[in-house]
Amino acid sequence: MPSHNGQVGADWVRHGQDVFKASRLKAAKCGVIKVEEDLKAQQHSYDTFAENYDEFLVVHDGYRGPVILAEEVVCLIPHFKDAKIMDIGAGTGMSGERINEKGYLNIDAFDPSKKSLFISQDKGCYKNYFISKGCPKASEMGMILDNTYDLIVSAGTFWVSTSHPGVQMFEEMTRVIKPGGHILIVTNMEYIQGEWQNWYTLKELEKRGYLKALPTKVVPNYRMNAKVSDVTQGKPPSGASMVYEVLRK
Ligand SMILES: C[S@@+](CC[C@H](N)C(=O)[O-])C[C@H]1O[C@@H](n2cnc3c(N)ncnc32)[C@H](O)[C@@H]1O
Repeated sequence: MPSHNGQVGADWVRHGQDVFKASRLKAAKCGVIKVEEDLKAQQHSYDTFAENYDEFLVVHDGYRGPVILAEEVVCLIPHFKDAKIMDIGAGTGMSGERINEKGYLNIDAFDPSKKSLFISQDKGCYKNYFISKGCPKASEMGMILDNTYDLIVSAGTFWVSTSHPGVQMFEEMTRVIKPGGHILIVTNMEYIQGEWQNWYTLKELEKRGYLKALPTKVVPNYRMNAKVSDVTQGKPPSGASMVYEVLRK
């Protein structure tokens, strides 16, 4: 794997954290979200560092999102190994690899970063690839039939910044999941704290009987490098594992 020097990678991880945090803060403060600009910047970053992404996220950052996600899949559907799964924000396939190792092989990838998806292709962990446009409502899912998936999973992608997936994507995700199926999201606790996302949208879907949120599980050691967090005072940040059951008939 070609490698940038350590400092460049560390700078990139740090820079990404700062840019995404600024995006969340801006959205919280003024509510005006320039999603297109945010998307352009984040995609430039993911495409540029796709080849080094795994190395830096794991070695520099001690990132454990995909490991935690795979463990949570086992907790949720321990005996349903041929479940049809979609990985949103699949990126370079770190989650696909970890979930494959647990015996689940029927996974599709959904992500706007072509370069990241190319890397994931070499790992052979996904069956089908959806190159999305990064639209917050995931309108590209329109090509997928209703009731196609048993489970949608995602690590380190939801609520990262205003152009990363968030609450607007739930209606479309709920449509493509079979009733009784699930959405399983693992992300940094920091990203779901604060009111910058319109959580009301999710409550509405619950009221309309589309889905039911199960209690959020706090999972320690989401990122082992505590320096990447500004809020955990020297401790490794925790992850949030969030499960939504799809009820729509
Ligand atoms: C921090 S990476 C996480 C990748 C992988 N899940 C992991 O844990 O290593 C976030 C991923 O989300 C993708 N992404 C960003 N915005 C997106 C959007 N609106 N819809 C779907 N994926 C998006 C990025 O291209 C990137 O691959």
